[in-house]
Amino acid sequence: MSENLVSVAYLGAAALFILALGGLKNNESARRGNMYGIIGMTVAVLVTISAFVTNNHSLLIVIMVAGGAIGFVLSRRVQMTQMPELVAILHSLVGLAAVLIGYANFLDPGIHYAGVEKTIHEIEIFIGIGIGALTFTGSIIAYGKLSGMIGGQPLLLPARHWLNLAMFVAVIIVAIQFVGAESHSDAQLMLIIMTVITLAFGMHMVAAIGGADMPVVISMLNSYSGWAAAATGFMLSNDLLIVTGALVGSSGAILSYIMCRAMNRHFISVIAGGFGTSTGSSGAGAAEQGEVTTIDIGETAQLLKTAKEVMVVPGYGMAMAQAQHAISDITKTLIDKGVNVRFGIHPVAGRMPGHMNVLLAEAKVPYDIVFEMDEVNDDFPDIDVSIIIGANDTVNPSALDDENSPIAGMPVLEVWKGEITIVLKRSMAAGYAGVDNPLFVKENTRMLFGDAKESLDSLHKAL
Ligand code: TAP
Repeated sequence: MSENLVSVAYLGAAALFILALGGLKNNESARRGNMYGIIGMTVAVLVTISAFVTNNHSLLIVIMVAGGAIGFVLSRRVQMTQMPELVAILHSLVGLAAVLIGYANFLDPGIHYAGVEKTIHEIEIFIGIGIGALTFTGSIIAYGKLSGMIGGQPLLLPARHWLNLAMFVAVIIVAIQFVGAESHSDAQLMLIIMTVITLAFGMHMVAAIGGADMPVVISMLNSYSGWAAAATGFMLSNDLLIVTGALVGSSGAILSYIMCRAMNRHFISVIAGGFGTSTGSSGAGAAEQGEVTTIDIGETAQLLKTAKEVMVVPGYGMAMAQAQHAISDITKTLIDKGVNVRFGIHPVAGRMPGHMNVLLAEAKVPYDIVFEMDEVNDDFPDIDVSIIIGANDTVNPSALDDENSPIAGMPVLEVWKGEITIVLKRSMAAGYAGVDNPLFVKENTRMLFGDAKESLDSLHKAL
């Protein structure tokens, strides 16, 4: 394949990746965006194979078929709620690939550079392996935390900031030694030392981050995996890998920023870790602060029938219960009765960005009644009935009222300002951040205990 043809194909693939990202900005165009991404990646893989792979074709086919089969089975089996874990473990593979390609490049006897070019190439290798190694171990720890294999509590070593600083300084010193090394074996030793340090750094960095900050960590690791790929692109002089890595790196960084803003957290303080140290209790505390008022299906149906303005606030429990179809049916029934039903979505509701939107789209809830938190938060005083489906942290007033709360400062949906709030959950248990929720004992809150899907199915029948 001619060099020009490769360049044109790469340019086309890069344009498709940009269109893919553009498409993902809203629900209506997300499917199209994904399709652009699939076509772009197919073009990229086919062109790279035909232009650059000169031997070992059969080995390549075996590996691609095996990898594709594993990916296919995994993606069919994974539950929506396990998506962040899957993303975390996939990031670890990107990191590992960057490390292995870096070493392969360093050890390749066929690569000869001299002078400035040699230094630049060495820096590319060093950075690629470094970011790859910290992405690798950081993502594995994130996977362990999200899947419950490791506890969600932050690991707070006594002088952890000094430890991080020491590791950072050590990497800089090793980098200088690496670039100035007299022999290949000296350079190799420096590379190994740096790899060990960055592997430990990635592990320590994510271990120190508490459960409540995990969404930001996942998108931050997403960003790192992109920069690792971009560094690999420089190492291999592959323009498309540089562009793709930069797109992933910058979109992950922007998403991390947006999430930090949604949780009212500073990016640096997230990275520094420790958030979510206070465990809260499993809800007993909330019960002690006041009386819980329960409600049954019949009373709930009655309230909804007489309401004019209804706001539905879904959370992680809706995903767990798979209650999206039931609430979609109820929404249709209420709209037919002339009730104005809207959905208010917190940016970090559920366990991944856009989690609620995906579920509601799957259940065919019309897009035009699904709003972001900022679009509806001022409207709660005019709401007759708010239905909270398995949301907890994202509707917790202590985020605004209690400066000692571990989620203090996180903007939340101010549902308690409405006339009546009905909370669907199974018990008084806390949510992801492990914090008590005073909403449950407010005077205008009614608890509808039970699995959200079962409750909503019964409610639909009652309506
Ligand atoms: P959470 O605060 O996690 O609360 C979910 C609630 O759902 C729990 O209190 C649970 O109470 C209830 N629940 C579970 N299964 C249920 C079922 N079958 N039926 C009814 N209720 C059920 O949810 P949220 O308000 O959506 O907040 C999300 C949290 O996750 C935030 O702290 C956020 O920072 C974090 N997080 C978000 C992401 C992203 S990017 N979205 C990623 C990772 C973590 P019961 O056990 O009493 O039923």
